[in-house]
Amino acid sequence: MKPQDILKEKSSLWVFGYGSLVWKPGFAHRGRKIGYIKGYKRRFWHGDDFYRGDKENPGRVVTLVEDQEACTWGVAYEVTDSQVEECLQYLNMREVVLGGYIIETVEFIPKEKGQCPLLALVYIATSDNPIYLGPASDLQIAAQIAICSGNTGHNIEYLVRLAEFMRLHCPEVEDEHLFSIEAAALNILPVCGEIKPPDQKSPLPGTV
Ligand code: SIN
Repeated sequence: MKPQDILKEKSSLWVFGYGSLVWKPGFAHRGRKIGYIKGYKRRFWHGDDFYRGDKENPGRVVTLVEDQEACTWGVAYEVTDSQVEECLQYLNMREVVLGGYIIETVEFIPKEKGQCPLLALVYIATSDNPIYLGPASDLQIAAQIAICSGNTGHNIEYLVRLAEFMRLHCPEVEDEHLFSIEAAALNILPVCGEIKPPDQKSPLPGTV
């Protein structure tokens, strides 16, 4: 099913988050489920020149890269009735306009036993995006994250909160890419000095 079909006059919708959405949805929702999607791996391969970096020093944030062997864990949020339109408008600004992500649909599998898979929207950044950064070694990614910050905070916060989410909610999942970048970043952080608070001059539209 195409994203535009799933959006048509829906009174209920699921949105899958695998990056900052896992700890900061920012939109009203009816419920949430922890779970995973198949066929994608999560990678710090997308650039961010607004939230966690700037034009000079773009931060590194996650996107999904197709891989038939992989699965990616995160949170699916259910929005209903008037929440649907509000959520889509909010995420369009946050993820599409300011983040450079596009919308896809995926099958989400809840962690809880006995629950049925469901169709969810997901925001993905692809390699044809101008701010896409692509692969680099864990150490290079960590070094970049350690020095970047943007309008919503330091890039380290983004990394550590995502890793914390995984440790807390999916302790049985070994997310090697995420955890080895986290370890490398925390290791080199003292060398980079104190983390400065974010510049609050241009907050995310629609938030206070
Ligand atoms: C995002 O939603 O992609 C960014 C939000 C954040 O980093 O705070």
